[in-house]
Amino acid sequence: MTHTPFPPPDPSDGPPRVVYVNGAYAPAAEAMVSVFDRGFLFGDGVYEVSSVLEGGLVDNAAHMARLRRSLEALSIPSPGRDAEIEAMQRTLIARNQLVEGVVYLQVSRGVAERSFDWPSAETPPSLIAFTQAKRIIDDPVAQRGLAVACVPDLRWKRRDIKTVNLLPASWAKMQARAAGADDAWMVEADDDGVERVTEGSSNNAYIVTTAGEILTRPRSNAILHGITRRAVLRLVEAEGLQLTERAFTVAEARAAAEAFVTSASTFVTPVTRLDGAPLGDGAPGPITRRLRALYIEMARAEARADARKSAARAAE
Ligand code: PDD
Repeated sequence: MTHTPFPPPDPSDGPPRVVYVNGAYAPAAEAMVSVFDRGFLFGDGVYEVSSVLEGGLVDNAAHMARLRRSLEALSIPSPGRDAEIEAMQRTLIARNQLVEGVVYLQVSRGVAERSFDWPSAETPPSLIAFTQAKRIIDDPVAQRGLAVACVPDLRWKRRDIKTVNLLPASWAKMQARAAGADDAWMVEADDDGVERVTEGSSNNAYIVTTAGEILTRPRSNAILHGITRRAVLRLVEAEGLQLTERAFTVAEARAAAEAFVTSASTFVTPVTRLDGAPLGDGAPGPITRRLRALYIEMARAEARADARKSAARAAE
């Protein structure tokens, strides 16, 4: 039997990829997780994706806070203090010479005999992390805009918890790909029976009406409470733009002037096609472009400050 146990080296031209597994830094090809890890067997784990620009973390305190919230919701023991986890993220960034991209981290309920019962609270959680180099700022998709296709939202009812159960989201994306789109907008009927967009397969979704009103679903168990969403909504307010946090229908999206998505790995990215037809005039809209520029400016400033802090600490 031949198989590839580990992904090929990071496509960036950096040094051999170093990952973190339960207290140790190791080359990716040597890093091991138990077959009995509950993250692997049950999807019993949570994760965070933090963006990195110019070697510094963006909005990482908010990611740490959401990690705590996900862990507490599922009674998964904490793998360490925020400062320890952040130090590990910074070590990974340094060891992989990551300039732009993301740090992924995952905490599972640890290793135990396979059983639907949770193991005792003394079972140590597993913490793994790795970096991924990615062009976030000069992403060509952000220039032309995403084509999205609507697909049914087949996920569970606690989407506010950032669990590793990503098969429905991954499947949704592949259905969208099969329909010729780049990504999925997931759709489901609310209590009133009307179908509305929940979010993208790995991002929060927004439209801008022809009256210039920005619409996005309010926070609830139906969506992930995006860290980028929070920051972008602050920018929307600071800019005096019109915002209503309410879910929108596919028909409203079809009639919109602009649309965009937000996430740590894509920032603000325009949506320019919906279900095979141009959205608005089929080009990234002015409000979307302005929000992307403002978010990049803010993220850059934060990342620079974080990189400085990190360098100062390393020099201590
Ligand atoms: N995804 N909604 C879903 C379903 C997500 O998976 C994500 C993030 C978001 C945006 O959240 P944030 O702004 O905090 O990144 C919304 C990450 C990037 C991922 O799974 O890779």
